[in-house]
Amino acid sequence: MKVLFRADEIAERVKTLGSEISSYYRGRDLTVVGILKGSFMFLSDLVRRIDVPVQLEFVRLSSYRNASEPQGTVKISMDIEDDIRGRNVLIVDDILDTGQSMLAFKRHLEEMGVHSVMVCTLLDKTYRRAAPIQPDFYGFRIEDGFVVGYGLDYAEQYRTLPDIYVIDT
Ligand code: IMP
Ligand code: MG
Repeated sequence: MKVLFRADEIAERVKTLGSEISSYYRGRDLTVVGILKGSFMFLSDLVRRIDVPVQLEFVRLSSYRNASEPQGTVKISMDIEDDIRGRNVLIVDDILDTGQSMLAFKRHLEEMGVHSVMVCTLLDKTYRRAAPIQPDFYGFRIEDGFVVGYGLDYAEQYRTLPDIYVIDT
């Protein structure tokens, strides 16, 4: 495994992202929806860098990768229970890869009647994008390659590492 982003570089970037997000939402309500489990570390650092009031929600998604479900559906194994109708929502995730689950989840929130939905991911892996979606805020763009650490896992390992690594495959 090779270090791709050190903890101090991540912290610096997260600080900047926090101020961009704060400027964008200043004077408006903001509900941050974290996608578990991958976003937990990024989200907890990011929300401490946002200086407008934030409400927090968490969801857990699992995609139908090999099932006969139509593309563009997402299984929500833990959904939002509070009423978020009319709210400005910022979805926070670790990485945007194909974008399929994010697009489906974004549509799900729109159907719940939110006022606006934006997407923030720490990493933007553009190479494999298959769905028409881009992050509105992102930390770093990366080439193809599998990354772990700072919340990201490989078979549930490495999530708790403070730096981000790329795995040699
Ligand atoms: P997709 O954008 O629907 O393809 O799926 C994105 C999800 O796949 C992310 O939330 C991660 O959980 C996982 N993922 C994609 N690429 C990586 C990676 O390089 N390392 C760890 N998890 C990844
Ligand atoms: Mg994930």
